[in-house]
Amino acid sequence: MDDATSPCALVVMGVSGSGKSTVAERLAALLGWRYEDGDKFHPPANVAKMSAGHPLTDEDRWPWLQAIADEIDRTCKANERAVVACSALKRAYRDVLVHGRDDIRIVFLNGTQGLIADRLAARKGHFMPPGLLTSQFKTLEPPQPAEQPITVSIDAPVETIVDDIVRQLNLVPQ
Ligand SMILES: Nc1ncnc2c1ncn2[C@@H]1O[C@H](COP(=O)(O)OP(=O)(O)OP(=O)(O)O)[C@@H](O)[C@H]1O
Ligand SMILES: [Mg+2]
Repeated sequence: MDDATSPCALVVMGVSGSGKSTVAERLAALLGWRYEDGDKFHPPANVAKMSAGHPLTDEDRWPWLQAIADEIDRTCKANERAVVACSALKRAYRDVLVHGRDDIRIVFLNGTQGLIADRLAARKGHFMPPGLLTSQFKTLEPPQPAEQPITVSIDAPVETIVDDIVRQLNLVPQ
């Protein structure tokens, strides 16, 4: 057991189809923490843009990421705990979410493009434009050691992934 600050929020990050929603939800249930889907925090203008099929720019993303960061701060201040699913592909995005706090930890879902493509093909009720996964991998800046990420292989059952995260963070399941 190290003496790292006990986290109040975990940001589960990775490309589309890496399992953020699935893993974050299961992890939150295991820990008895709240689960939040980062997509819920998009301002209406972003939702309209995405619905019209237009890609978001980084300028569009800052208010969204700041809204998630604000919600995390509120959660921690209220002595609550949350697991947030958010792609957070770039370092600059994660820096908004974490903003230097050591009680907000990044969990990186690491997997190959081939494995994730197979999972996306099998996923029901989601339309995935061709090329999206390739562009996600192009954008992805895997977290650097300085970010002190928890990195887990997604080539495993969900239970194993969640147990791996809990173990690496020395957290106690409910
Ligand atoms: N460890 C796993 N083993 C097998 N299937 C998995 C695993 N994790 C996730 N899946 C499946 O892979 C698909 C993608 O997972 P999920 O929707 O959670 O990804 P996501 O990262 O939230 O994607 P998006 O960014 O599009 O919201 C789903 O059908 C899910 O059931
Ligand atoms: Mg999701």
